[in-house]
Amino acid sequence: MTQRITIRRPDDWHLHLRDGAMLKTVLPETARHFVRAIIMPNLVPPVVTAADASAYRDRIMTALPEGMDFTPLMTLYLTEQTDPDDVAAAYADGLIHAVKLYPAGATTNSQSGVKTLRNVYPVLERMAEIGLPLCIHGEVTTHDVDIFDREQVFLDTVLAPLRRDLPGLKVTLEHVTTSHGIDYVREAEGDIAGTITTHHLMINRNHMLVGGIRPHYYCLPIVKRAEHQKALRAAATSGHPRFFLGTDSAPHLDGAKETACGCAGCFTAPNTMSCLAHVFEEEGALDKLEGFASLHGPARYGLPPNEATMTLEKREEPCTYPETYETPEGSLTLFDPNVPLHWHVLT
Ligand code: NCD
Ligand code: ZN
Repeated sequence: MTQRITIRRPDDWHLHLRDGAMLKTVLPETARHFVRAIIMPNLVPPVVTAADASAYRDRIMTALPEGMDFTPLMTLYLTEQTDPDDVAAAYADGLIHAVKLYPAGATTNSQSGVKTLRNVYPVLERMAEIGLPLCIHGEVTTHDVDIFDREQVFLDTVLAPLRRDLPGLKVTLEHVTTSHGIDYVREAEGDIAGTITTHHLMINRNHMLVGGIRPHYYCLPIVKRAEHQKALRAAATSGHPRFFLGTDSAPHLDGAKETACGCAGCFTAPNTMSCLAHVFEEEGALDKLEGFASLHGPARYGLPPNEATMTLEKREEPCTYPETYETPEGSLTLFDPNVPLHWHVLT
């Protein structure tokens, strides 16, 4: 018997669209299913000023195929040189919806990120005043902290003190990967939310490392133990409004992934909705999918939920997504969910 669910159309609250040829290839994959997305600013060079964000938004709209409807929600990359007035003006104009904090060295293209948090307090204070959310890549980059512990250590040594200093700041802890992060977001006082990625719901570090190293599962923050995956699944399917979808779909050409020093990032835009329906069904929580993918995010960002709907149908035969996508610069591998996906997106 076929099973169907209809939800309001989803948005993606953490997405890497890149630029140039890659942008042209991946943008339709997001726009097919998602109405809006928070666009990560970690280009080379990064999107640091309102002028950069405006130019990037134009390039995205130019790359959008005719007939597709999609609204990019722009962000600025926070640096120690960021001008609070420029940020406030970009927010007032409706150009940007968040500012992104990358601790310097934490991930792909984060060299220009923040080394000393104190130096960006003037920007953060202004953001707290005007209600502009700060999206945080929550990992310390100290060399003596194990890569699997970097999120947990960040919570105690960076996030908690920052939020004590600036209690009015709206914070999104992005791509939460540990039970510690989940507990923090659920229990902390004040204005906090957390996004969860598709891949962190589907895989844990065994999938990445047992029986051979799988470069396409390498992302940052790195996938953790199964018990953390379990905590993420529980949070995502709980219906708690502080948790919502940020796919962190982060495409890299295969040549940059399948190499001695591969880039971090999983490309999940095309099959995210099938993956999520699979996870939510496994957790007996299909009725919570709409909240996670389509309602909690807009509420958090002060935007109305989408009016249009999406219907997913469970079929006997699994979905057939392409294994790879071609760009003029090389191929790009789609995230392998590691199980057959039976939920097809109909519309
Ligand atoms: C992202 C990228 O490639 O830009 N990579 C990733 O593994 N998630 C950067 C990021 O969001 O950390
Ligand atoms: Zn990301």
